[in-house]
Amino acid sequence: MTDWNARQYLKFEDERTRPPRDLLAQVPLQSPRLAVDLGCGPGNSTELLFERFPQAEIVGLDSSPDMLRKARERLPQCTFIEADIATWMPDKRTDLIFANALFQWVPDHQEVMRRLLQALPAGGVLAAQMPDNTGEPALALQRKVAASGPWANDPQVKDAARGELPAPETYYDLLKPVCSRIDIWHTVYNHVMATPQAIVEWFKGSSLQPFLSALDAAGREQFLAAYTEEIAAAYRPRFDGKVLLRFPRLFIVAVR
Ligand SMILES: C[S@@+](CC[C@H](N)C(=O)[O-])C[C@H]1O[C@@H](n2cnc3c(N)ncnc32)[C@H](O)[C@@H]1O
Repeated sequence: MTDWNARQYLKFEDERTRPPRDLLAQVPLQSPRLAVDLGCGPGNSTELLFERFPQAEIVGLDSSPDMLRKARERLPQCTFIEADIATWMPDKRTDLIFANALFQWVPDHQEVMRRLLQALPAGGVLAAQMPDNTGEPALALQRKVAASGPWANDPQVKDAARGELPAPETYYDLLKPVCSRIDIWHTVYNHVMATPQAIVEWFKGSSLQPFLSALDAAGREQFLAAYTEEIAAAYRPRFDGKVLLRFPRLFIVAVR
């Protein structure tokens, strides 16, 4: 089980909060009764819901106690619950299910999305964003390092790489039959990172976690050293020494 770490995740809070802002901007709701932030993490995305819908009841849900502790400190006005979305069902007053950077971690997530969408009242909205970056050098290099070190035959390491997201057409065919309107789009961000090492730090808060949590302390250090070397070779400095982290993301807003 991946050990989520709120402090590591929040090192890039501004960049990580841009996609949920862009997602929320497309949610066609004025005054939802209850809005649930699935995979709320440290509360950065929940705070956006709270600011946009001050009259609504806002609930954050996450499976990580560390993330929930941070979220509760940040937003004492909101309710936070520990749950696994594989089995969670929304209350019938739920008008918005918001899931930023969550579903890519959830097995059979398309089925979970369909089940949740079906559980919403007419006009209710499911809004989701997922990184669609498995083809980017940063993720390809995680797989390369995983396949070439002393850990290469460890079953947990072999299983740690995130699978590719399905195509937009797959989501359309699955979700459109149970909703009245659907909007699917990609946005490619180009995050300005201070150094190649900053890219490593970024992914230590997300997709590197399943690799690192499979290793002991010495293995983690060795894995990170090899990955840092690969990243420095792949992400070349710009004129001012900074590097650009290209980051494609998939957005879906479905209205029941
Ligand atoms: C990448 S963070 C996203 C945080 C926040 N929503 C944001 O916009 O930055 C993903 C969160 O999903 C949570 N998570 C992963 N799998 C989950 C599951 N099956 N049920 C509930 N939460 C889950 C993790 O604990 C983590 O806090």
